[in-house]
Amino acid sequence: SPLKIAILVGSLRMDSFNRRLARAVERLAPDDFAFKHIQINDLPLYSQDFDAAYPPAATRLKKDIEAADGLLFVTPEYNRSVPGVLKNAIDVASRPWGTNSFAGKPGAVIGSSIGSTGTALAQQHLRNILAYLDVPTLAQPEVFIHFKDDLIADDGSIGSDGTRKFLQGFVDNYVAWIRRFAR
Ligand code: FNR
Repeated sequence: SPLKIAILVGSLRMDSFNRRLARAVERLAPDDFAFKHIQINDLPLYSQDFDAAYPPAATRLKKDIEAADGLLFVTPEYNRSVPGVLKNAIDVASRPWGTNSFAGKPGAVIGSSIGSTGTALAQQHLRNILAYLDVPTLAQPEVFIHFKDDLIADDGSIGSDGTRKFLQGFVDNYVAWIRRFAR
């Protein structure tokens, strides 16, 4: 049966470059990898009051994460860190205490921005968070995509040979990383 990958995109923008990057990765992956874009745009802002009775959207998120064999975080950088929408989703799925849905699931962090530092600082912050949440995260290659000139189309096709080869290298390492943890 296919290996199930939960994709979390850290942007809610309709035309998100990071969602395009996620689709590009999907297209470069082998047939036995099944990707699911996890919905985070309807989550309430986390409150510890939820722990007594978790809201339905929050429970759905936890189930989506728990059903996955691996995680792929594709995020922009907001003000040199992780966008609030993504941090909120992570907080929601990590709770109630003792029920961290991410625990032990292998993952990777990639991202794209229009700035020349290309999400490096946001990704480093996110790696810190994931280390605490017991997500073993692929170390190399790092993927900082400087988005310009419609580099990746809406359907995930890549306009540059260099970028396609580079991303294929990431996908090959990512696939091997996820397989190492597969039961
Ligand atoms: C940005 N952007 C940005 N870019 C960057 O490289 N470093 C940063 O710290 C920030 N900070 C930031 C804050 C906020 C609030 C916004 C709205 C944007 C620009 C960002 O890279 C650009 O908007 C991307 O297009 C966002 O990714 P998506 O939505 O296209 O996936």
